[in-house]
Amino acid sequence: MEISVFKSMYLSELQELMSVEEQLADALLRMAGAASNPALKRLLIHHRAETETQRDRLVTILQMHSASPTAHIDQAMQALIVETKKMLTMLKGDALRDAGLIASAQKIEHYEIAAYGTAAALAGQLDLRDEQKMLHLSLVEERRTDSLLTQLAKREVNPDALAA
Ligand SMILES: [Fe+2]
Repeated sequence: MEISVFKSMYLSELQELMSVEEQLADALLRMAGAASNPALKRLLIHHRAETETQRDRLVTILQMHSASPTAHIDQAMQALIVETKKMLTMLKGDALRDAGLIASAQKIEHYEIAAYGTAAALAGQLDLRDEQKMLHLSLVEERRTDSLLTQLAKREVNPDALAA
């Protein structure tokens, strides 16, 4: 494949990720507002701050390539957020809603883990080492959030939902 074609695929991935982070910054605020468990609320608020840093990293990288940060709207993320809203209206009771919020947040995190994994790998193929490092930082944050959500579900939220 021609390198310019490969690079435009890389930039499209970044533009999609940019839309993912934009949408998620709003969604996390609503999700934190709906959470009852204090540790879950804190985690969602903390990850919102990380999301803003991740968005800034993408802006920095896109600027280096003179690529627009608003070229794409990621429809998979739109669908994940619609599903989250639907879930919030369906689940009654604080403990059950918290369990549903974790389930939704983990689907979103897994999507982001896949997207950052791909973007970092493409940066590596293109020998863009600084960009690869920045994308890897975001990837590590997404993975950490995912594993903290798993711990919280297992230790507190799911047992509480079962007992409710
Ligand atoms: Fe993110």
